[in-house]
Amino acid sequence: MLPPMPSKRSPRKSPAVVPRHVAVVMDGNGRWATRRLLPRTAGHKFGAEALKRLVRGCVQHGVSYLTVFAFSSENWKRPAEEVTALMALFVQALERETAELAAQGVCLRFVGDRSPLQESMRSLMQQAENSVVTEPRLRLTVALNYGGRWDIVQAARAALAEGAELTEQSLARHMCLADIPEPDLLIRTGGDHRISNFLLWQLAYTELYFSSTLWPDFDEKSLADALDDFARRERRFGRVPTRTDPSGLRVA
Ligand code: FPP
Repeated sequence: MLPPMPSKRSPRKSPAVVPRHVAVVMDGNGRWATRRLLPRTAGHKFGAEALKRLVRGCVQHGVSYLTVFAFSSENWKRPAEEVTALMALFVQALERETAELAAQGVCLRFVGDRSPLQESMRSLMQQAENSVVTEPRLRLTVALNYGGRWDIVQAARAALAEGAELTEQSLARHMCLADIPEPDLLIRTGGDHRISNFLLWQLAYTELYFSSTLWPDFDEKSLADALDDFARRERRFGRVPTRTDPSGLRVA
């Protein structure tokens, strides 16, 4: 007789298994607002509060890198008033939150094509990036006017410009986020199961976690659930599974 199939689900490993780098697609602001008969822009405002909670949570859990998708290259196709409101929200957040972030030990930077952004906004972004955080606890990257395909193309152009042959290594050197580890965990809220042109290159081996929670409702418990789920995953990076004991539990 065949032995019983071991359970596929491993118990949560030690609490020390925290992803070093978490990436987040903060989806569902519009629906959250519409369900409350509010304008979509109100959803983004509450979304900004959820982002502040997420940053605090990541610091508390010991996540070292957090990358969030704030505005995609495709988001320009939204109604003009929504785009304007989002840009105003980013400016407001930069003006109000930079000092507080630094006080929490969070250093901030942006990735994406800045060329279509207003000069005043670009200057605030630069100032925020220049604020010195001694002993950073969390490196927060905000992807703004970012697209994964744009990132690959700009990296290829940069590699060719330096006369390099196109290889995985020469391209990787020029990708946005080349200086930090690739995301261990991608969280997408809002119920859709797609990447939406986020970090296409960098997510090659990332664990994907989809939640039906709408972004403004994503709270401390939601983050803890995502981290807990991550802690149960077995990451193989193309290798064979790690050794299991007869009960099916992972031991290495
Ligand atoms: C997607 O929800 C969300 C966005 C396009 C904007 C994300 C921005 C924030 C969370 C605001 C705070 C950010 C910063 C950096 C201060 P959606 O509008 O597509 O929602 P829907 O799918 O319900 O329409």
